[in-house]
Amino acid sequence: MQRLTNKQIILGITGGIAAYKSAELTRILKGAGAEVRVVMTASATEFITPLTLQALSGNPVHQHLLDAEAEAGMGHIELAKWADLILIAPASANFMARLASGQGDDLLTTICLATDAPICLAPAMNQAMWRDEGTQKNATTLESRGLKLFGPGVGEQACGDTGPGRMLEPTEIAELTAAQFDRGSLTGKTVFITAGPTREPLDPVRYISNHSSGKMGYALAEAAMEAGAKVKLISGPVNLPAPARIGRTSVESAEEMLNASLEDLSLCDIFIAAAAVADYRPTAIAEHKIKKGSEEIMELHLVKNPDIVATVANSSPKPFTVGFAAETRDVISYAKSKLERKNLDLIIANDVSRSDIGFNSDENAVTVISATTTETLPQASKRQLASKLIEKIAAQYHGSAVTEKEIETA
Ligand code: C5P
Repeated sequence: MQRLTNKQIILGITGGIAAYKSAELTRILKGAGAEVRVVMTASATEFITPLTLQALSGNPVHQHLLDAEAEAGMGHIELAKWADLILIAPASANFMARLASGQGDDLLTTICLATDAPICLAPAMNQAMWRDEGTQKNATTLESRGLKLFGPGVGEQACGDTGPGRMLEPTEIAELTAAQFDRGSLTGKTVFITAGPTREPLDPVRYISNHSSGKMGYALAEAAMEAGAKVKLISGPVNLPAPARIGRTSVESAEEMLNASLEDLSLCDIFIAAAAVADYRPTAIAEHKIKKGSEEIMELHLVKNPDIVATVANSSPKPFTVGFAAETRDVISYAKSKLERKNLDLIIANDVSRSDIGFNSDENAVTVISATTTETLPQASKRQLASKLIEKIAAQYHGSAVTEKEIETA
């Protein structure tokens, strides 16, 4: 399970012998799906080289506050905003003291002051330094401000002493870090979402298509990402920017959308078909632009497109499959028969005869139907509705999930 998928983590490293373990910690965080940016204090660089951490994190290492070039790249405020979580491991006694007193005298303390993200520290120091009244007071101050302390552990220390002050092992720190995000209902799950229309070319300049802004599919992709999922958004041509942190696979025709949907389908836990796929495509695509003739009526020969969601729902292993039913009448009964015919786990029905919801509108109202349940969600913005729908889908998915994928920490 990729418990840190899409998460942006600043790993702060301060000066202590345990800094050598931060290399392994970087590798584990990356392995769990996180994007890691390392910030080092000056003394940390005496223990481990920035180059090692740059190679392991795949990002430049940030070190200086008053470096015009670095600030022009990604400055301290940008870093503070970028982070979903700041993890400081090892956190030295000196760093804890500076943080507790509210100082902003280097890059790492400044980022900590400027961020809204949660801050977690893995203290590492000699047992006497940890027990020291000043350090204990600083630890209490930091915890009272909502910062989390991971450890320290008790045991043999690099200096030969035994006692509290050992930094926790990188696997334990990574586990505790992941636990900070475990609230999401789709944490560790992979969700594929089709969105937008498809275009079925007639000739190099013309195509057959459907009304579809892609807004609902894109809102679902963002909501699934916020719920902790790794999202693959398979999108037909729309006027929407690719959502941040979501990989977008752009397609044109239904056949391309099917191929993109089937690629890596074995990794997909939940498939949501929000695309308005053209039911038919021209039997042949003219090589050159079809010229206007004298005839009043033109005949087009069309062939049925593959049903993407039905193909997915009948594959093996089958992801939890969710379809949409946009109808203009008998909405619920058509949706129910579609649920059965396409072998879906859930169908989301909406009435597209109304001009205030659906298609290009920003609002929607839907009914969520499974084999045994029917629930109507009131009209709301597509974003709000998307969050509610993702929660419903997650609840149904967890109710029906039979096999859990292997837990994967690295
Ligand atoms: O059959 P109908 O187009 O009404 O079904 C709608 C549902 O099926 C939607 O979820 C849509 O994304 C999906 N669909 C599909 N491939 C098609 C046609 C529809 O995935 N060729």
